[in-house]
Amino acid sequence: MSEEIFKKVVSHAKEYGFVFPSSEIYEGLGAVYDYGQNGVELKNNLRQYWWKSMVQLHENIVGLDAAIFMHPKVWKASGHIDGFSDPMIDNKDSKKRYRADQLLEDKIERYHKDGKAQKAADLQQGLDAALLDNNLEALKQLIVDHEIVCPVSGTRNWTDVRQFNLMFSTEMGAMAGAEDNKVYLRPETAQGIFVNFLNVQKTGRMKVPFGIAQTGKAFRNEIIARQFIMRMREFEQMEMQFFVRPGTQQTWYAYWKEARMKWHHKLGFGSEKYRFHDHVKLAHYADAAVDIEFDFPFGFKEMEGIHSRTDFDLKNHTELSGKKLQYFDAELDENGKAYGNYIPYVVETSIGLDRLFLATLCAAYKEEQVGEGDTRTVLSLPPVLAPVKLAIFPLTKKDGLPEMAREIMDKLKYEFTCFYEEKDAIGKRYRRQDAIGTPFCITIDHESLSTQTVTIRHRDTMVQERIAIADIQQLVQNAISWKTLLD
Ligand code: GAP
Repeated sequence: MSEEIFKKVVSHAKEYGFVFPSSEIYEGLGAVYDYGQNGVELKNNLRQYWWKSMVQLHENIVGLDAAIFMHPKVWKASGHIDGFSDPMIDNKDSKKRYRADQLLEDKIERYHKDGKAQKAADLQQGLDAALLDNNLEALKQLIVDHEIVCPVSGTRNWTDVRQFNLMFSTEMGAMAGAEDNKVYLRPETAQGIFVNFLNVQKTGRMKVPFGIAQTGKAFRNEIIARQFIMRMREFEQMEMQFFVRPGTQQTWYAYWKEARMKWHHKLGFGSEKYRFHDHVKLAHYADAAVDIEFDFPFGFKEMEGIHSRTDFDLKNHTELSGKKLQYFDAELDENGKAYGNYIPYVVETSIGLDRLFLATLCAAYKEEQVGEGDTRTVLSLPPVLAPVKLAIFPLTKKDGLPEMAREIMDKLKYEFTCFYEEKDAIGKRYRRQDAIGTPFCITIDHESLSTQTVTIRHRDTMVQERIAIADIQQLVQNAISWKTLLD
């Protein structure tokens, strides 16, 4: 059932201009997607929701927009050159490549579905232990012991498990081939924040604790990409690094865990759709990590990570660059002594914008029975996030109604996104707006000419009421205020 809903969401996303496969006329490009005319609006709105809550509403958090290309040493210091890899395994018959841990996770899910809870628990334990030890042989042995077959060839003819680095690289400058010219497409936006730590701290006169927030593209050569925009090779992250006094990181970790969960709940999709998942295998930089998972139609999956990153990054950049990435803390401790110089510890919040987009689409997508034998598809988006806020329809194409509708549009288009349409019956036009989540439609009819009123139709209740043209702006503005989400 859920799989069916997911298929519907994916085709809806394409049919209504939210998401298209990249380079589709050339059969697409694996795990790369483009956002269409409605998708780009929804994505921008989601980005704004994050940015406003992080930067605009926190006096001690500022923004940054660092370049995608960075000095190659950044990725040495961050540990990505040596440690940013996934365990992969190939099937010799199909020549298909898989992530070894994901094959095992799929098997665990299969055991659960088949009611084999003990087998699932045993395999989970084995998997956790192998990942924790980075034991590639143990992973292979689990694949053999649990008789996992390649979904394509159906055979168990596997290679050994190897590590596969996920970073994309390219060359900078004219001299192709020279190792010195090698640059990477950033696999996370976080490093742009770390290397600018001093620039921002000094020029912004920031005092610990403070944060730097950034949104932008990240690139990972994922071994397997699946579930639509869930796992992409080019995606967007929204990350915030919060710099704190050493020793206070657990307090701030708990603070951000709760704050981020609240932010998700505010979207109004139901708190039961979210849960925390503590990491068993910590990333190379973390001393504590938790995911906020969302209940996608294909199960609970990671949407956001909150990591206590210690001083790992700033310390390593200090060592490799020779620049002291330190903070001088003039405040006094309980003994009356200044804290002095130290490398701050970092608590990070990191959310994938594309995953947030997918979660939003899945949660908002509804098929509803309306009257006898009639149905509608509606995106119940929070109004402030909707791609179009107000659709404007003249009832007919004549009698001065289009002119009056255009006049209203020309006044309101500066305030919020409006959409004008005069083709087809009103019912059809309403349905098309429901499908993209437009919270309000107004219809200009003959009565409008004499009374200066219009019919406004509400998306969720489908209730229609007559209001003065002069009142439209305020009514819509109240409903789409950022306060509805941020307050
Ligand atoms: N700076 C920390 C970091 O990058 P991560 O858990 O690897 O941590 C953070 O990634 C978030 O980025 C994830 O929670 C997810 O939402 C998103 N993300 C990661 N890989 C992705 C991919 N291949 N496609 C889409 N989103 C991805």
